[in-house]
Order: sequence, then structure tokens, then C-alpha cells
Amino acid sequence: MDTASPAPVLTAAPELSVIVPCYNERANVAPLVARLDAALVGITWEAIFVDDDSPDGTAEEARRIGTGDARVRCLRRVGRRGLASAVIEGALASSARFVAVIDGDMQHDETRLPAMLELLRTGAADVVVGSRHVAGGDDAGLAGPFRQRLSHAGIRLAGRFLPAALTDPMSGFFMVPRPLFERLAPRLTGQGFKILVDLLLSAPAPLRVREVAYQFRSREAGESKLDALVLAQFAGLLLDKQFHGLVPLRFIAFAGVGLIGVLVHLATLTLAREAMGLHFGLAQSVATVVAMVANFELNNRLTYGDQRLRGERLWRGLLLFLLVCGLGAIANIGIARMLYAENTTWSLAGAAGAVVGVVWNYAVSATLVWRGR
Ligand code: GDD
Ligand code: MN
Repeated sequence: MDTASPAPVLTAAPELSVIVPCYNERANVAPLVARLDAALVGITWEAIFVDDDSPDGTAEEARRIGTGDARVRCLRRVGRRGLASAVIEGALASSARFVAVIDGDMQHDETRLPAMLELLRTGAADVVVGSRHVAGGDDAGLAGPFRQRLSHAGIRLAGRFLPAALTDPMSGFFMVPRPLFERLAPRLTGQGFKILVDLLLSAPAPLRVREVAYQFRSREAGESKLDALVLAQFAGLLLDKQFHGLVPLRFIAFAGVGLIGVLVHLATLTLAREAMGLHFGLAQSVATVVAMVANFELNNRLTYGDQRLRGERLWRGLLLFLLVCGLGAIANIGIARMLYAENTTWSLAGAAGAVVGVVWNYAVSATLVWRGR
């Protein structure tokens, strides 16, 4: 009669959560778990794979392993992209005493984790960073001389902004006490690839940093996700921190794209009139549509690269954007006319109209077109 199940066994949170941001890393999940298992003997740990809905089924693979091994967890984000924001959300899903961040492509050396942990346990540091540029480390695994030059330039650039002297601030391999991460989380920008730079620049007082050497391995499976957008986001991160988050960088990007749109408009207008012989009214209409479509595409890739619309949502977004900008143009012309009629100089009236137009376009497209999730 008594079929009561056995009392549940309570298991405390592990000492260490290893956060693994991953996008299209299916082939690397199982080998990475095996390596962590081998490296972290005697330490209670878990791995949290944070996947942005990779088409290659990375999340499924992590879940498959997690079914048989409770140390392996997976956070699947839908409609989002971004290494830094993935790390933040993974770390905030942890209850461990310490959190480590490691790439999901095995380029970082997991065998250094116990040494990193030891430095935090003794309280010798607030952050321990895996460095390729202290004795015993190297960055030979970077894919080619271009990536190497880029990395060195990034390190020099970051060095100008950072309070602590660090040999490898661009490292994506580090460990911090979770409570410290929790405290800093609300201040993080979460943009782009460089979450460590974000953390260091977000701390109200300089953090005590220690470095541990490691050799950056070359990638065996999958491919790097570093592209021009990631570089632009890095510049954005440094600027954002420099101005204490007061300068609305997304708006600046949006306005910059708008300026490019003006050039696209003028070029199309010239082409339509000179080369195709269209009369002004038609040429102007064609140029307007071409410029708006170009603006949409640039904003989708750049300004809103972290929530880029694709597939069906892309077409719906484009239609809405054309509608929003069409209304913005009407507001622009209306205001400029009104001011001009009230004897404002034509340049001031025109500029006021343009400013109202771009603010309208930005505000409305941010809420309707790229509304995040
Ligand atoms: N969830 C998620 N979302 N993960 C991502 C995304 C994303 O949008 N983009 C990249 N990742 C994951 C990758 O799958 C990989 O596990 C890790 O982040 C690093 O991305 P890579 O594309 O392999 O970057 P990398 O090798 O060019 O650059 C790395 O090396 C630097 C050292 O030069 C980065 O990890 C840096 O942080 C690291 O310091
Ligand atoms: Mn990599």
C-alpha cells in the first residue's frame, strides 16, 4: 500500500558555474563537457550553455547531454544574438559561488580553471583573467596574421580606457565571484563580444585583477563569429562607458544611417534623371523608396544587429519601417513649412523639420519595428 517515493535528495549549488556562450557549436558541446569533466576533478561544477537558437541544433545537443548529466544545463534564447548578453544571462542563471566564462569552441584552455578558482578562493583577486600575453601564454591559435594584428590593436585601444594594467583585456576567458557579477550586472552594456572590458569599466572602484597564462588554441570545428558588426560594437562599448551611458549610441547609429540614406537618395536621384531620363517627380519618388529600403537594411544589420529581423519578420518590419518613415517625412515637411511661414530662415526651418523627422523615425521604429522581445 505504501508507495511513497523516497525522500528527495537535496543537492547544494555547485561551487563553480562555467558559462559557455555558443552559436553553431554543436560539434564542440560533447568534447567540451568531457574536457571540463577531466579538468575539474574534485570541484563541484556545472556548465551553462547559452545558445542563441543556433540553426545547427547546439541547444538540442546540450539538452541531450543534460538529460543524463544534471551538471550540463542549457539556456536557449530566441530572436536574440550577442556573446556578451549571452554571458550575462548565463551568469545570472547561476547560484554558484563563482562563475567562469569560457568559449564554446575549445579555443580557451579549461585546464587553467582550477588555478583560476584557487586565486578567487583565497581572496587574492576580484577577477582572474586567462591571458595569452603573460609568460607561458600565447595567441598562436588566432586565425592568421590579420586576426593577430586586430587583436593587438584592440588590446592597445582597450588599455587606454581601462583602470587596471592588463595584458589581455580582450580575453573572453575569466572567472569572478558570482555576487560581484550580480552587483555589476545592472551597469553592463551587454553589447558585442567583450564582456570582460564591460565588467572592468562598469565597476565603481577598480577591481583587483590577476592573470593566469593560457595558450589560445586554434579552432577545430565550426567557425568564428567575429565580423565588422562585432568591431563596431566594441567601439560602441568603449564610447558608451566613456560617457557613462549618457550618450544614446543607438540613436547616433540610427542618425548616422540616416545621413548615409541622404547620400543614397542623391545618388539614386542623379542616376534616375541623368542615366534613365526619368522626370523629376518620378525620379524623386524612386530615390525616396530606395533610400528608405537602404536605411532599413543598414539599421537592421548595424543599429539593431543584436535583434536582426529575418524571414517573415523582415518583410513585415520593412513595410512598417516604410510606413513610419513616410509619416516622419510628412511631419518633417509640415514643421519646416510652418516655421518657414513664421519667418524662420529656410536653413533653420529645414533643419528643425529634419530633426523632428529623425527623432520620430527613431522612436517609433524602436517600438514598432525592432521591438526586441
Ligand atoms: N550565444 C551566443 N551568441 N554565443 C556567441 C555569439 C552569439 O551571438 N557569437 C559568438 N558566440 C560564441 C561562439 O560560439 C564561441 O563559443 C564564443 O562565443 C567565441 O566566439 P568566436 O566566434 O569563436 O570568437 P573568436 O574566437 O573570434 O573570439 C574569441 O576570442 C577572443 C580572443 O581573441 C572571443 O571569445 C573573445 O571573447 C576572446 O577573447
Ligand atoms: Mn573562437
